[in-house]
Amino acid sequence: MKTVETLSALRAEIKAAKNAGKRVGFVPTMGNLHEGHMILVDQAHRECDFVVASIFVNPLQFNDIDDLGRYPRTLTADQQHLVDRDCDLLFYPSVDEMYPEGQDNQSKVSVPVVSEGLCGASRPGHFDGVSTVVSKLFNMVMPDAAFFGEKDYQQLAVIRKMTHDLNMALDIVGVTTCREDNGLAMSSRNNYLSEEERAQAGHIWKELNRVIDGLKAGSKNFFDLIQQGKINLIKQGFKPDYLEIRNAQTLKPVTESDEQVVVLVAAILGKARLIDNIRVDLSA
Ligand code: PAF
Repeated sequence: MKTVETLSALRAEIKAAKNAGKRVGFVPTMGNLHEGHMILVDQAHRECDFVVASIFVNPLQFNDIDDLGRYPRTLTADQQHLVDRDCDLLFYPSVDEMYPEGQDNQSKVSVPVVSEGLCGASRPGHFDGVSTVVSKLFNMVMPDAAFFGEKDYQQLAVIRKMTHDLNMALDIVGVTTCREDNGLAMSSRNNYLSEEERAQAGHIWKELNRVIDGLKAGSKNFFDLIQQGKINLIKQGFKPDYLEIRNAQTLKPVTESDEQVVVLVAAILGKARLIDNIRVDLSA
């Protein structure tokens, strides 16, 4: 696997792959790769002939400078993971390569409605940073398909809407969340958890499932389902940021007639802010 750090080197590699008639699959990441990322690479291999990953810790999407500073950077281990899964090319740009005119002077992409509320409420500017960097990366890599984890459900919804609204010619593929044995969704942020907290963190999955069971049993008492879930999380030592039931497509608050719904949670445990979700089809 080649690692390239500049846009010109990236473009040369992509041009060669496209000239050879290859379908290009892209897995954008911020590094600190785990199995959750690797299944994105595997899926990209199934659907494409040339797989490109990127590692870029994007300052534009961090509203907390300390959070940006402590974000784990593990390039050598990440390269090894990617080699093990036969990734063809790694794009590893510097901040200057991505934002040569400076971050404040960078044109921004902003996606309305789906960016608002949930993580958008507690992380102001976060999704503008994500949609801006992802649209830049799409223009740099020019992939035929890009692969994202469903764990970041709101991020995936933002990227799908951006791609649709801006007529970007690529497929966006959502890939099922990879979980630890206790249900904890894999995330780079799990590194901030102690052994004990990791075990405790499985309660997020339990609470999501409890809400889902209530919905499947026909409950329309959304408020009570959510309140009980929050109380249970607090009892387990979490500080819930949100626990919400939303329409799975629009991410608007759920209504009694919605059939495709998603239950989303963000909760703080120790030093980690954990997010997760479960989608359910209530028509079945
Ligand atoms: O999910 C991530 O790791 C990041 O938000 C992404 C999509 C790579 C953009 O920086």
